[in-house]
Amino acid sequence: MTEHTTTHDAEEDARNRDILIYINGELYPRDEAKVSVYDSGFLLGDGMWEGMRLHDGHWAFFDDHMDRFFDSCYAVGLDVGMDRAGIADALRLTAEANGMTSDVHCRLMLTRGTKVKPFQHPSLSRSGPTLVIIMEHSKPAEALQAQGIRLASVPQVRGLPHSQDAKFNSHSKLNCVIACLQAEAAGADEALMLDPHGFVNTTNACNFFIIRKGEVWTSTGDYCMNGVTRAKVIELCRDNGIPVFEKNYSLYEAYSADEAFLTGTFGAQTPVASIDGKAIGTGDRLLTQHIRALYKQAIARDIAVRQAG
Ligand SMILES: Cc1ncc(COP(=O)(O)O)c(C=O)c1O
Repeated sequence: MTEHTTTHDAEEDARNRDILIYINGELYPRDEAKVSVYDSGFLLGDGMWEGMRLHDGHWAFFDDHMDRFFDSCYAVGLDVGMDRAGIADALRLTAEANGMTSDVHCRLMLTRGTKVKPFQHPSLSRSGPTLVIIMEHSKPAEALQAQGIRLASVPQVRGLPHSQDAKFNSHSKLNCVIACLQAEAAGADEALMLDPHGFVNTTNACNFFIIRKGEVWTSTGDYCMNGVTRAKVIELCRDNGIPVFEKNYSLYEAYSADEAFLTGTFGAQTPVASIDGKAIGTGDRLLTQHIRALYKQAIARDIAVRQAG
C-alpha cells in the first residue's frame, strides 16, 4: 500500500493498541468494541460525531463542540438521550479508564441506533441511540509543520445546504471521501473543494485559509463545516489586529497566496505546501506560525478557565 500524508497524521503510539472504547455506558478493549451490523451508522451513515482534544484533563472548547453536536442532532431528530453534562461524564469515564490527560484526541459518535430491519426509514431504529467514544493518544505529526500538505482541486463540491448541509458532521462522509479519492488520483495528499459557484471552499477534512499581503481570507462559510477551529482563528485574528475576511475568492487567488493553511481540531493549523502542483509562497510561513501561537494560547486560556471552574 502507498504511504500518504494526511492532515490526521499522528506520531506512532503503541499504547493505542490497548485502548478501551466506550459503547453505551460500557468499556470494551479495542478488539472487542463492536456495534451491530443493523446499526443506523453502519447501514446508512445516519449519525453525528465530534472530534475533540484533551489538554490537562479538559476538553478544549467543549461548549463550542457541544453546541454544534446538539444542534446537529436536534436538526435531524436524533435524541442524544442525555444532556451535555452526561456527555462530559461519559468522556470522563473513558479518559479515566484509559489513564489519559493530555495529547489525546477523541471521536464522539452518536447514531440513530440498532434497526429492526436493514432499511432506511428512521422509525426502524427502535432501541435508542448508539453512543461510542474512541479516545486515542495523539500528537499531530511534527513533520507536517515543515513539509505542509499538498492539495489538489477536485471536481467534487460541497453543495447547497438544501441537499446535505455541509455543517452536518455526519457519519456519512462519502461526499468528502470521493473528493479525497479524486485528490489522491491527482497525486496530492488531500482535496481542495470548491463551492457550487466555483469559489474556493474547504478541504475534504478541514477548513481552508489563505494569506495575501498580510490579510487572512477564508470562504464565506456557507458551504463548509462550521469548524470550531475556523471560528477561533477568525476571532483571534480580529482580537489581534490581523485583517481577516470571509469572502468569495477563486483558485486564481489561492495559487498566488503568500501562505495557506488548514484548520481542524486534530491538527490545529496545518500549512499547505502546494495546490495543483503550484508551490504556495516562498515557504516562509510567518503569519501562519503567529496564528498558530495565538491559537495555542487560546487553548491554554480555555483550559485555565475550566480548571478554575
Ligand atoms: C469536513 C470538515 N471540515 C472541517 C472540520 C474541522 O472542524 P473543527 O475545527 O471543528 O475540528 C471537520 C472536522 O470534523 C470536517 O469534518
